[in-house]
Amino acid sequence: MTGRPAIRPDRLQERLERFAGIGATPKGGVDRQALTAGDREARALLAGLARDRGFSVRQDAAANLFLRREGAHADLPPLILGSHLDTQPTGGRFDGALGVLAAFEVLEALEDARLSSERAVEVAVWTNEEGSRFAPGAMGSQAFAARAIPPEWLAARGADGAVLGEELDRTVVSLAVPAAPLGFPIAAYLELHIEQGPVLEREDIPVGVVTGIQGTLWLEIEIEGQAAHAGTTPLAFRRDPMRAAAAILTELYGSIMPGDEDARFTVGRIEARPGSVNAIPERVRFTIDLRHPDAGVLRDLADRIAGVCEGVCAAAGCGLSIRRLVDMPPIAFPAEMVERIEASARRIGLASRRIVSGAFHDALYLARCAPAAMIFCPCRDGISHNEAEHVEARFVSAGASVLLEATLSFLDDAR
Ligand code: GLV
Ligand code: MN
Ligand code: MN
Repeated sequence: MTGRPAIRPDRLQERLERFAGIGATPKGGVDRQALTAGDREARALLAGLARDRGFSVRQDAAANLFLRREGAHADLPPLILGSHLDTQPTGGRFDGALGVLAAFEVLEALEDARLSSERAVEVAVWTNEEGSRFAPGAMGSQAFAARAIPPEWLAARGADGAVLGEELDRTVVSLAVPAAPLGFPIAAYLELHIEQGPVLEREDIPVGVVTGIQGTLWLEIEIEGQAAHAGTTPLAFRRDPMRAAAAILTELYGSIMPGDEDARFTVGRIEARPGSVNAIPERVRFTIDLRHPDAGVLRDLADRIAGVCEGVCAAAGCGLSIRRLVDMPPIAFPAEMVERIEASARRIGLASRRIVSGAFHDALYLARCAPAAMIFCPCRDGISHNEAEHVEARFVSAGASVLLEATLSFLDDAR
């Protein structure tokens, strides 16, 4: 070993800039949705950088990508550091990429210092964390944890009509690398991520120690009415699914979040068929993203939503179907992992604060395989899932340094 490993902030900033160029949007954000050409380009770039440093590269059947720095004992389960490279349609430069590129920086810092470790350290790039092109989100990590890809995913069509199975195959074959098994044993999992909310910035604290992740439910509500002429059909003759949707949303917007400050209720997609100006729609479909830190409250809210939809649709003479696209119960990370991150920040002189994640992350599923932990970086104005998303350079360095310190403490303990 040639000295204590240290991250190189200049190298990490240059990488963030370079990856932000893949799928760059005119407003300074990134559109690099899961399993698109841009996603494949980013994966290929990272795989090339890994090979240049002598790291081995593998990929599993869910297109999760692994970059491995070998340890002395190849048979010991590796420590995994990871996040995702896919983005929202109008996403930022940091959501996902920060965690992957900081993890890669840690791997390079270990290599620069020629540190020898007993077990391998791997960077993982999880497939389709965002879930905006293909639902559900966190697909790659979910498949890894379950050691299987649910067959119904493969036939699913994305928001742009693409078939998931085809895009997955295209992505897997685009990188000529050895296959990794889906769900191999791992020793522990660490993920650095942008906070995506206002808490750390408001308190000027550089490091968030994530204690857990709140629960998420995604519902797809489909209301079936009767298409009819917009000009000639009197009210009593209408079975209008748009009117029913408006009544449902007015009720839910007016009650769910005003009634509970921990609840989050969002409708991000709505469509009417056939989508003609002068026809009452035949069908209206919209999504609901519902979140709460308490599993019981989340279930109760879901029941309430179903009740409101049923009542309104029955009164409007409309048909109703409710599909559950995502069901992620809240989790708490193990206390010893939370303490490990806290101690790592303290050792390098950085203030930290405990925080619950409002967003879901791949760590939620990795926590089913091994002890997992997350570190948050402050986010400018609390804005994320937005092209304006930004993390100050000093906070990027702080987060990556804590990730490195936590990695070293884990490698030391695991000797
Ligand atoms: C992740 O992108 C989330 O929506 O929480
Ligand atoms: Mn993310
Ligand atoms: Mn995201």
